[in-house]
Amino acid sequence: MADDHNAKDRREFLKTGAVIGATLAGLDLTLPAGAAGRGGARSQFRVIPIDPVRVGFVGVGGMGSAHVQNYLNIDGVQIKAICDIVPSKVERAQKWVEAAGQPRPAGYSKGPTDFERMCATEDLDLVMTATPWEWHVPVCVSAMKNGKHAATEVPAAMSIEDCWKLVETAEKYGKHCQMMENCCYDRIELMTLNLVRQGVLGDILHAEAGYLHDLRGVKFSSEGEGLWRRAWAQKLNGNLYPTHGLGPVAQCMNINRGDAFDFLVSLSSPTRGLHEYAVEKFGADSAQAKERYVLGDVNTSLIRTKLGKTIILIHDTNLPRPYNRINLVQGTRGLAHKWPDRIYIEGKSPTLHQWDDFEKFAAEFEHPLWKAIAAKGEGRGHGGMDYIEDYRLIWSLRKGEPLDQDVYDAAAWSAVVGASCQSVSRKGAPVAIPDFTRGKWMTNSPLGIITA
Ligand SMILES: NC(=O)c1ccc[n+]([C@@H]2O[C@H](COP(=O)([O-])OP(=O)(O)OC[C@H]3O[C@@H](n4cnc5c(N)ncnc54)[C@H](O)[C@@H]3O)[C@@H](O)[C@H]2O)c1
Repeated sequence: MADDHNAKDRREFLKTGAVIGATLAGLDLTLPAGAAGRGGARSQFRVIPIDPVRVGFVGVGGMGSAHVQNYLNIDGVQIKAICDIVPSKVERAQKWVEAAGQPRPAGYSKGPTDFERMCATEDLDLVMTATPWEWHVPVCVSAMKNGKHAATEVPAAMSIEDCWKLVETAEKYGKHCQMMENCCYDRIELMTLNLVRQGVLGDILHAEAGYLHDLRGVKFSSEGEGLWRRAWAQKLNGNLYPTHGLGPVAQCMNINRGDAFDFLVSLSSPTRGLHEYAVEKFGADSAQAKERYVLGDVNTSLIRTKLGKTIILIHDTNLPRPYNRINLVQGTRGLAHKWPDRIYIEGKSPTLHQWDDFEKFAAEFEHPLWKAIAAKGEGRGHGGMDYIEDYRLIWSLRKGEPLDQDVYDAAAWSAVVGASCQSVSRKGAPVAIPDFTRGKWMTNSPLGIITA
């Protein structure tokens, strides 16, 4: 259990271990100083089955509404409470729940910390938050302290310190805390994971991933994310949104389950995109054009794992460009690559040096989860992957099974935000990504091929 003493230990570790010397360039399988023997890690943690799962939502804007709609179409869910700072959004979600034949959920809209009242008073099994980034940790911590499991939209936390807070709270109160990384359930990502599990790509040594999405219109909108997301570009310079790209390749590389992130180096390009967009859209004298940004338009990080594997990770949301998450997974026998979908497998792909058609492998390697659930998610958010992730969380709670993505995944994948910002500020110096499992990654078994 992480008590105050252990918290002090690991703060010491954060201080002393933050910048890794070049001497660590070789393979390093040892635990970080101060981490050994602290215990408390609950990887592959399970609780007794919960059925039905009583859910409270915090933040029902764009993504929160999508989760509410999904949960109204998943067996074994009761939506009992809705919280948002905007009363009309609470009212809208309450009506959806009633229209689906469930009792009207309790509403909470008395200000930005009203979720605390909801967590303290409602009988809930799970609190899910889809709020602006700064609220994810306060909501999850409040939920867990009040005996509820927590689920949060991405990224789970914006600093390494806050990643530890989620891990320590989940351990202390014996609760789940899942980050809802929906991209792990997209079709090609699932099929790639299946190919990896079947050994078709050989031993996985390298991956490339990212979030490359022109969000200028979204960031300058007068509603939704326009109300809060642009402000982060004035505060932080690094990879602010790592998990859509990183989650799926981390699963392929058994991060926290056979390997672990070790450290990263990160560099950012100059910042131009948001300012130029503001000048063009609102005029050179507009308030928007006078804002000052620190977020480099393209941030590139290079992560090394404890076993010496590498991941290139990109964040690129301020420039005109088509959407891409890259999703390249490379092993000793071949590689899979998305956008466009392509693959090369030694001995199977007919032409040397040329990409093969990914679809050729679908009949044999379509992921069983996609085959079983995708049809139910058709027409729902992000091509159906959101429905599958919601389905899996509820399924795991109802069965009392470990979650596909646990608090250690939430922490490790999100820690890239804080680590990349530290590295950028130190001219690309290596920065440690803490081992939130405290050594359990060496004995945890990999996520299997999930079938239901
Ligand atoms: N997984 C995905 O594909 C995906 C896609 C979009 C957004 N997201 C994530 O979802 C989260 C929300 O994004 P969004 O696009 O829905 O934004 P949004 O602005 O549309 O929704 C946020 C909602 O939270 C409410 N809110 C703000 N502060 C609150 C507080 N203190 N208490 C209660 N409610 C509060 C707002 O009123 C709003 O309704 C973000 O973390 C974002 O990164 C994930």
